[in-house]
Amino acid sequence: MGTTQEPGTGRRPLGVGMVGYAFMGAAHSQGWRTVGRVFDLPLNPVLAAVCGRDGQAVRAAADRLGWAAAETDWRALIARDDVDVVDICTPGDSHAEIAVAALEAGKHVLCEKPLANTVDEAEAMAEAAERARARGQLAMTGFNYRRVPATALARRMVAEGRLGALRHVRVSYLQDWLVDPDFPLTWRLKKEYAGSGALGDLGAHAVDLAQYLAGERIAGVSALTETFVRERPVLTGASAGLAAGGSSLGRGPVTVDDAALFTARFTSGALGSFEATRFAAGRKNALRIELNGEKGSLAFDLERLNELSFHDHTEPGVSAGFRRILVTEPDHPYLEGWWPPGHGLGYEHTFVHQARDLVHAIAAGEQPQPSFAEGLRVQRVLAAVEESALKNSVYTTVPV
Ligand SMILES: NC(=O)c1ccc[n+]([C@@H]2O[C@H](COP(=O)([O-])OP(=O)(O)OC[C@H]3O[C@@H](n4cnc5c(N)ncnc54)[C@H](O)[C@@H]3O)[C@@H](O)[C@H]2O)c1
Repeated sequence: MGTTQEPGTGRRPLGVGMVGYAFMGAAHSQGWRTVGRVFDLPLNPVLAAVCGRDGQAVRAAADRLGWAAAETDWRALIARDDVDVVDICTPGDSHAEIAVAALEAGKHVLCEKPLANTVDEAEAMAEAAERARARGQLAMTGFNYRRVPATALARRMVAEGRLGALRHVRVSYLQDWLVDPDFPLTWRLKKEYAGSGALGDLGAHAVDLAQYLAGERIAGVSALTETFVRERPVLTGASAGLAAGGSSLGRGPVTVDDAALFTARFTSGALGSFEATRFAAGRKNALRIELNGEKGSLAFDLERLNELSFHDHTEPGVSAGFRRILVTEPDHPYLEGWWPPGHGLGYEHTFVHQARDLVHAIAAGEQPQPSFAEGLRVQRVLAAVEESALKNSVYTTVPV
């Protein structure tokens, strides 16, 4: 970490180096650019350098997104003295290699979800994070949906016992960008880059949010997966996860799931149901979660992210019912830095909050949440889902 104070801030700089600059790269850049201007931080995040593989393109991205320098090899980024935190925004196939190397080089690490493409990789990352922690370096998994004020409030209410013993956790994460059978074969549809399909992409968020809100682990699952469109156009042009261009080279095989459905048993005995799909026509980014407990229920929908629905079942039945909490009050989670009540937040703010929490954890020398160990816990659930689906939905326990 830099030792000199940043001019004008009175706080020591915390140099950030980011790998990958497309969708998540842009979202994380927004987070790092904004966080110190909204929240009172103990350190001053500095956008030191960004890394991509094409020199011209990464230079242009650095200018557009606000990074001071550009690198074309992530090893060079990690080696920079002005980089204290390595922020990994690449597809899953490179997470483990970059994260382990960065931790071993003495850097803090923020890694996008899913933590890795396999349980073996995620275990190696969690072990590297444990070793690094003993030396003072910290690692965090980028499950940003924990950082919507409404989900953070939901967690607080569950922890306060407002729902009592949990009975049901019902989660669906629905998108529709693969409905068109001519959508191109991007990295997200290839196992060697993405690890899995809707499961690792959307299901990972659903599993993490469910375990986080419930405050307990998933013990076992029974699953179905399907790949509805098994071949898609291969295009010659540049490809990001959600788009590609150029002319067609014919069709190639989709090697991941298009949809994953599973039921789950939580350690307390609560039952869960999960649905992750990219084929829900009309649903753009609909992450919905509902928890039912003996004393009440909570419901959240990412497409209405400033709201949380709460039913207090201890109230007299004659007037009880779901009510809408508008989560924009100054004492709601993360709201102290933002706008007056009723002036809502959006998707991008989750990345600002993620950066805020990581900076505080680094300054305090405390483990940021979710840790790599929690990322590994999600990975183990995803692996159990795949194993169950391969075995005709047989109930499969998740190793602790
Ligand atoms: N938290 C969320 O809400 C969320 C949303 C989307 C994606 N993600 C995750 O973020 C990660 C990236 O996804 P994306 O949608 O930003 O993908 P993307 O295709 O938009 O961007 C990937 C970037 O990584 C770069 N890259 C790939 N390999 C590289 C390497 N070896 N060295 C340097 N750069 C490399 C690409 O050039 C590109 O800039 C994935 O793990 C994905 O699951 C998270």
